[in-house]
Amino acid sequence: MKRPVLYTVPGMVLLTFFSTGSPLAKTPLSGLTLAETGEGTKPSHMTGDGPCKPTPPDALGPFYVPNAPERTRVGNGHILSGVVRTSADCSPIEGARIEFWLAGPDGKYDDDHRAVMFSDKNGAYKFESNFPPPYRGRPSHIHIRITAKGYRTLVTQYYPEKNQTQGRLDLILIPEN
Ligand SMILES: [Fe+2]
Repeated sequence: MKRPVLYTVPGMVLLTFFSTGSPLAKTPLSGLTLAETGEGTKPSHMTGDGPCKPTPPDALGPFYVPNAPERTRVGNGHILSGVVRTSADCSPIEGARIEFWLAGPDGKYDDDHRAVMFSDKNGAYKFESNFPPPYRGRPSHIHIRITAKGYRTLVTQYYPEKNQTQGRLDLILIPEN
């Protein structure tokens, strides 16, 4: 049985037509398939090449210490920035609590290289530090733990390339419900 459905084409028009029930049916105006114009279409506010997938978790490691001081800088040489977003619709999350910790230039974890900050009204954050040295045979990395009301806590790590001075990492959280 045919039923009316609505499909949007980004940046174009709202189409109303009758679905045949086939996911590959042609739309009457554009010639695109429903797979191209329907639920699989990436909204314009999404970032990267794919959908807004949750950031993969990574190990907490043995050097996490809670209640680090609130600050955006613990050194210089590398700036990591990005936006905290929800996997539900990719919109930014304001006020997410972000904890960072990494090995200092001497290759050791200490309290001077831990920080807490909060994402701004656009969900954005920026963290400046030394470039993390390789540690115990592991590649250079910065530990990150993100908490936000209504979302699952995310623990992950960021891996900069050698000699990199800036990095970008959006942190995509999963809603609790
Ligand atoms: Fe580590």
